[in-house]
Amino acid sequence: MSAHAAPTRRLTLSDLAAKKAAGEPIVMVTAYDHPGAQIVEAAGVDIVLVGDSAAMTVLGYDSTVPVSVDEMIMLTKAVRRGLTKPLLVADLPFGSYETSDAQALATAQRFVKETGCDLVKIERGGTSVHRARALVEAGIPVVGHVGLTPQTATSLGGYRAQGRTADAALSLMDDALALQDAGCALLVVEAVPSEVTAALMPLLDIPVIGIGAGSATDGQVLVFHDLLGIYDGGPAKFVKRYADLRTAAIDGVTAYADEVRDRAYPAPEHTYSMPAEEAARLRELLAGR
Ligand code: KIV
Repeated sequence: MSAHAAPTRRLTLSDLAAKKAAGEPIVMVTAYDHPGAQIVEAAGVDIVLVGDSAAMTVLGYDSTVPVSVDEMIMLTKAVRRGLTKPLLVADLPFGSYETSDAQALATAQRFVKETGCDLVKIERGGTSVHRARALVEAGIPVVGHVGLTPQTATSLGGYRAQGRTADAALSLMDDALALQDAGCALLVVEAVPSEVTAALMPLLDIPVIGIGAGSATDGQVLVFHDLLGIYDGGPAKFVKRYADLRTAAIDGVTAYADEVRDRAYPAPEHTYSMPAEEAARLRELLAGR
């Protein structure tokens, strides 16, 4: 037997289909930079999304709308360099795919070529169904996203649960089915009542990843900064905080600032020294000046 460990194999869409078939939950999480990618890889997640939530979590915009293609490409490249095994999904930002199939294809091709992402994600049903079909026909795997679609949150009445009336639920389900028919490889369902998810799941063959959509989906996704408690903002109802890194980080930087002010840092173990004879010679040279 070889002493060398087998090289890590990147997950494939077939692996996700197998997980769905086996009823094995799929774990997806966002990441926006190289250390974040290394952390989620070490945690063994299946899919990493460079979400346009980056606009708010790392770039300081007040919604996902302003983030540009160039900004998303830079973040996605950094994440790609930190990943070996999970599938990498990149969000196409608002305004970069809606106008025409040609626009969507040009943007998606940039992402695939420049970042090495495995799939691209677009939001909404409607015209996005046409865009999804065009991308799939061009050989680019697509993730659909229905329910609360933050890029168009204003027209949905803000950041609130969707599909809460029977008519709205049916329309959301029609969008999901249309995206599956268009060839989407995965579907994200965000902020919908669990009754709607339960009704939707038997209709879909593709893996469905929920965020605020209850427990019936094939997997879950959360925003890295939300689940680790990094982001300074009230979390949505569906967010569970698994750590409080913001408090830990503030405590760490405060302790550093206190030690600098007290001259307790740097201590001798953080300090370089020169050989004693060189120090003596330096003193002599300086005295002779
Ligand atoms: O941008 C994002 O992080 C997302 C997830 C919330 C699914 O789209």
